[in-house]
Amino acid sequence: MSIANAERGVTIWLTGLSGAGKTTVADRLAPALRELGRKVEVLDGDVVRTNLSKGLGFSKEDRDTNIRRIGFVSNLLTRNGVAVIVAAISPYREIRDEVRETIGDFIEVHVHASLDELVRRDVKGLYEKAIRGEIANFTGVSDPYEAPHEPDVLLDTEQEAVEESVAKVLAKLDELGYVRVPAAA
Ligand code: ADX
Repeated sequence: MSIANAERGVTIWLTGLSGAGKTTVADRLAPALRELGRKVEVLDGDVVRTNLSKGLGFSKEDRDTNIRRIGFVSNLLTRNGVAVIVAAISPYREIRDEVRETIGDFIEVHVHASLDELVRRDVKGLYEKAIRGEIANFTGVSDPYEAPHEPDVLLDTEQEAVEESVAKVLAKLDELGYVRVPAAA
């Protein structure tokens, strides 16, 4: 007998350029899912790179290793009923698809803002350095980003408030039966 989706774990994979808003969305989505009764873990690229992926750089090979490690942990958690939120650039389509295939209960969320906007925001000051040539292989400037062709959810963080973005992800999870979002009063 199959388990209803409401009991199943799921990986919510946020992909997009640095500064697009992946961490912001993850940090707001996590408590929203907990309120709906879900156990939640967040795997954030910046955090993962200080422990699980410490020492890895930004070559394609290292990024692929990073994403496969995150995918491995996400899979373990997902099959134990956890809602896993991943926030990592994950620039290569093939590796994202590989992880999706392994996990199964997986939704891909493209967190998008235009490069112009990201350079304007430049929260970490990295775009300026990358444009000056001080950071090699910087995603979106001097390294590729392969946007999803058909993401389950597309967030436009240039146009949407974070609450709207979170609501869009929750609506997709509700549509697929992973959570039940009560209708607004
Ligand atoms: S990924 O490509 O392997 O998925 P990940 O999300 O873990 O990347 O880490 C990205 C973060 O590392 C960025 O938000 C930024 O703070 C930092 N960073 C440092 N160097 C680079 C680079 N060359 N390209 C992209 N991000 C970089």
